[in-house]
Amino acid sequence: MTARKTQRLSASRPRDLAEAARLLREGGLVAFPTETVYGLGAHALEPLAVRAIFAAKGRPSHNPLIVHVAEPARAQALVTEWPASAQTLADAFWPGPLTLVLPKTSDVPDEVTAGGPTVALRCPSHPVARELIERVGAPIAAPSANKSEHVSPTTAAHVLADLDGRIDAVLDGGQSGLGIESTVVWLSEGQWRVLRPGSVTQQQLHDVLGVAPRPDLAQSNVSASSGQGTGAERMPPAAHASPGLMKRHYAPAGTVRLLDAATLARESDHLMKTQGSLGVLLCGEEVPVPSGAHGMRLPRDPAGYARGLYAALRDLEELGCAAIAIQAVPEDPSWAAIADRLQRAAG
Ligand code: TXA
Ligand code: MG
Repeated sequence: MTARKTQRLSASRPRDLAEAARLLREGGLVAFPTETVYGLGAHALEPLAVRAIFAAKGRPSHNPLIVHVAEPARAQALVTEWPASAQTLADAFWPGPLTLVLPKTSDVPDEVTAGGPTVALRCPSHPVARELIERVGAPIAAPSANKSEHVSPTTAAHVLADLDGRIDAVLDGGQSGLGIESTVVWLSEGQWRVLRPGSVTQQQLHDVLGVAPRPDLAQSNVSASSGQGTGAERMPPAAHASPGLMKRHYAPAGTVRLLDAATLARESDHLMKTQGSLGVLLCGEEVPVPSGAHGMRLPRDPAGYARGLYAALRDLEELGCAAIAIQAVPEDPSWAAIADRLQRAAG
């Protein structure tokens, strides 16, 4: 990877927005805000630009990228199938934190899809993201703008902490409002499945589509990880078989433990002694910060918790905590996306 001088651009300055768009048009790498997390963008139809994303992040080449469009209608040009269910979901949730996985056209480079037959598409709702994509005049491929397997960034400062000197610019648009990544959904005529939980819940998708998700075939003898056509029926990938969903992910440095409130209170002394230093991430007001530990507290509501989660994990890491104990969140479908990220952070 060649070193790059990373420009700090501000989304509130029209000149800076124009510069970010110019860099992307010319094949550069620009991190930009979305309503979920910051993305690391490149021109999606330029294979070399897309390849540079993988180099800057240290991302394995088998992990495909999400392609972002400025207007819902632009997504259809990138796929060979647009089932009625895709239109229903786009009408209900776009622009917004939902990603649809569909068969790609030959216009979408293999670099974007890691050689796979499907492409993940999203129309973000963040006005800066949409304005930027509009100005580039092309779809933008963008994973979260963190080093591979690290915590996703929700501010421009987080992006710089991971990628300064590795990308051409970061466009600062303030804090990402939702705080966790989009819901990724695989779909085909009459069938669908969540590959990665996110702000849009499975129940919301079910309500809008009116059909239940296709049951997980992961345990059966169906080899379906690519979602590729095999014979007459195109089989869905197994739930959580999204190539990027390796177990340890979204993770700060150090030992991360996910504990219920009682276990956390009981074991914090032991963790502190054996690991040297301890950070705790608490949910709501019920558990006191163990003495001697660095404490972070997030609200006991899923939206507020999600908004602060990644910043809190980065803060605990910055404080040099050798171990981080995270209080488990409620077991309710409205917390599913957060529980998923916490499990991955804890490996
Ligand atoms: O909210 C988000 O989705 C953010 C913002 C920047 O849009 N992006 C994001 O990208 O989280 P990334 O690359 O960190 O995660 C994309 C996920 C990965 O788990 C990847 O494996 C999966 O989507 N994915 C991408 N293309 C896919 C495909 N064709 N089939 C199945 N999964 C796919
Ligand atoms: Mg990511």
